[in-house]
Order: sequence, then C-alpha cells, then structure tokens
Amino acid sequence: MKNKKILVTGGAGFIGSHLVRLFVNKYPNYQIVNLDKLTYAGNLANLRDIENKPNYQFIKGDIVDAAFINELFAEHKFDGVIHLAAESHVDRSISNPLEFVMTNVIGTVNLLNAAKAIWIPYPSGKDAEAPRFYHVSTDEVYGSLGETGMFTETTAYDPHSPYSASKASSDHFVRAYHDTYGLDAVISNCSNNYGSFHFPEKLIPLSIYNIKNNKPIPIYGKGENIRDWLWVEDHARAIDVIYHNAKAGTTYNIGGHNEWTNIDLIRLLCKIMDKKLNRNEGESAKLINYVKDRAGHDLRYAIDSTKLQNELGWTPSLQFEEGLEKTVDWYLTNEEWLNNVTSGDYKKYYEIQYSKR
Ligand code: NAD
Ligand code: TYD
Repeated sequence: MKNKKILVTGGAGFIGSHLVRLFVNKYPNYQIVNLDKLTYAGNLANLRDIENKPNYQFIKGDIVDAAFINELFAEHKFDGVIHLAAESHVDRSISNPLEFVMTNVIGTVNLLNAAKAIWIPYPSGKDAEAPRFYHVSTDEVYGSLGETGMFTETTAYDPHSPYSASKASSDHFVRAYHDTYGLDAVISNCSNNYGSFHFPEKLIPLSIYNIKNNKPIPIYGKGENIRDWLWVEDHARAIDVIYHNAKAGTTYNIGGHNEWTNIDLIRLLCKIMDKKLNRNEGESAKLINYVKDRAGHDLRYAIDSTKLQNELGWTPSLQFEEGLEKTVDWYLTNEEWLNNVTSGDYKKYYEIQYSKR
C-alpha cells in the first residue's frame, strides 16, 4: 500500500482514539496526524499504547480556527482527512447549541475550505489518486423512527436536537463540496457506539460508573427509547473499509442490527455488574431512577447497513451481550482512567504538556 499522510481530527476522543489506534497499527507506512483541541472529551490517555509509534503525531489545535487550519494543510500536504472532531453529546447541545454550530458546522467548513484550496485540482489529475475527505457522521441526522422501519442512505434528513441539526448541516456541506467543487468526499452515518474510552456522560459508561459507586442510574422518561448499539471497534473497521474502497460522493450507513430499549439495556447491564461486583442478583437494578425526559427525545433509531455489507463486505464482529461484558470488564480494570476522567484530573497533565502550535 502507498505511503500516505492522513489527518485524523478528534483522534483523542472516544471513536477517534480507536480509529487512530487501528490505522497506526495496521498501516505502518501511513503517517497518522491526530489533530485535537482536547476539549473535556479529548484525552491523550486514550492513546498511550501508540503515542510513541514513529508513524503517529499529535497536534493540539482547534478546527474552528480557520487560519490555523489553512496553515496546517499547507504545511503537511495531507493525502486524506478522516474528520471526527465534534461536540457529540445531545444534552450539552440542548444547553449550549452555539458551541455545536461552531465546532460541527464552522469547523467542518474550515476543513473543507482548506482541503479544497490545497487539493483542487488534484495534484495527479487522476480521480483514483485524489486525496479523500471522509466525514464521520451519525444516524441521528435522520430523525426519529416509529415502531417499524429503518434508516437507509436515502432516508430524508429530519434532525431534532441541536446536535443532530449541526451534524446534518455539516453533512450537507460535505456533499455540497463534492457536488460543487469536485472534492473527493465520503460520508458515513453510524448508530450509537459503545466500548472502552467512552466518556462517562453517555448512557453506558455513566451507568457503569454510577452502578460501581452505588449512585442512582438516571433513566430519561420511561426508558422506552430505542437505540441501535455498535461495538466501537467495529465502527473503526467500517471506517477503514469505507475510506479505502468507497466511490467518491457516496454515503454508507453503519449499524449493528442491535436495537435495545434503554431500560432493557440497563437491566442487562445491572445483571452483568451484579455478577462482576459479586452482588446479589437484583441489587444494582435497585439504583434505576426514572428522571425527567430529555427535551425533543428521539424515540427510536435503527440503521439498515445492507449497502455496506453487500458492497464492501463489512459485518459487525461482536454480539451485544459479549461486547457489553467486555466493556464492563474494561471499565472495572481501568479504574484509574475512569476516576481521572470523572474528577477532571486528566486535563491538568496535558495542559502543561501541550500548548497550541
Ligand atoms: P467525543 O466527544 O468522544 O470526541 C470528540 C473529539 O473531538 C474530542 O477528542 C474533542 O477534544 C475533539 N474536538 C472537539 N471540538 C474540537 C475542535 N473544535 N477542534 C478539534 N478537536 C475538537 O466524540 P465521539 O463519540 O468519539 O464521536 C466522534 C465522531 O463520531 C463525532 O463526529 C460524532 O458526531 C460521530 N458519531 C458518534 C457516535 C457515538 O455513538 N459516539 C455515533 C455516530 C457518529
Ligand atoms: P446517549 O448515550 O446520550 O446517546 P444519544 O443521545 O446520542 O443516543 O443516550 C442514549 C440513550 O439513553 C438516549 O435515549 C438517552 C438515554 N439516556 C438516559 O436515559 N439517561 C442518561 O443519563 C443518558 C446520558 C442518556
């Protein structure tokens, strides 16, 4: 495989760190540059196992800073971008929508402008060798399903939260840069991920933390909302397959065909935690606490990933029960990571180590 220099944005976050790890280990001939602002969600401890590899470089910076992004592209002459940097938590988007517009919309357009300025016309003039802009997005752009049906790549966008509205907007800009300027752009829309290094504000890691510490598990509304959960490493594998094989201008849905109501998921998690913590069966479930529903709470997400499976041969590798147990094991083994993240201590070290370029 050809040598390539690839920019990954948001590589210190949950999914980004799994993607960076996969690429750094699998493609020693690629130079992986991880650009991350290290917001509350970015944590370089997520990448400690690969941080000294010769094909990995970390740069601290903000995608909202257009001058910095233009300079970065001019300096590095990237052969591709995999863009994950985003504000990603729906509840935060409800209290601070503008931050989501800045990072998710303006940040994405800044990257598109920098890529367009450097890449178009393609240096080689050959479509097959065009540098690629891969935009990582979410199924939440499609809105909410009723009891039946699934999101396909042609489902009309219908976002409801400021988070999903900002992601939908960024998707539209990526498509517009392909259609208008001929940028080689690809988008994937993935369902809810779970696994290691997941920030404990999201349902699964938050619940693991609370169960472990005997704190209430907040369930929004009646717990009847449905999400389609995918093992994060399967998402990273899907991005790898799509990045290397998709045709320019295409979109793929990624999902695990794995729908759970929140309450059923939490009951399963409580059962696993009882076993792991040597508690009596039913003890952790006593922590379940129904709270006020999230505003505009989407009822159901379900992804049809047939196109990805048929065209590119990707399939999820793990059953949910197995993946959830592995996730619990990881959090219980990596107590220090969890405690540092919840106390905010992980920020102090990195604030000293890294300053903006
Ligand atoms: P995350 O919140 O864990 O990580 C986001 C990363 O982006 C962090 O490292 C953060 O420091 C960085 N970042 C934020 N603002 C930045 C800025 N202005 N400049 C540079 N870096 C910045 O998010 P995640 O869950 O890993 O999600 C990654 C991507 O995948 C997002 O685009 C998200 O929309 C998408 N996605 C997430 C899920 C999911 O279930 N988590 C599902 C589908 C798609
Ligand atoms: P979350 O992990 O925030 O992901 P998303 O909103 O992107 O789907 O939430 C997953 C589901 O769990 C969602 O239906 C909201 C619900 N939820 C709770 O019931 N309690 C919580 O404390 C959180 C964070 C989420």
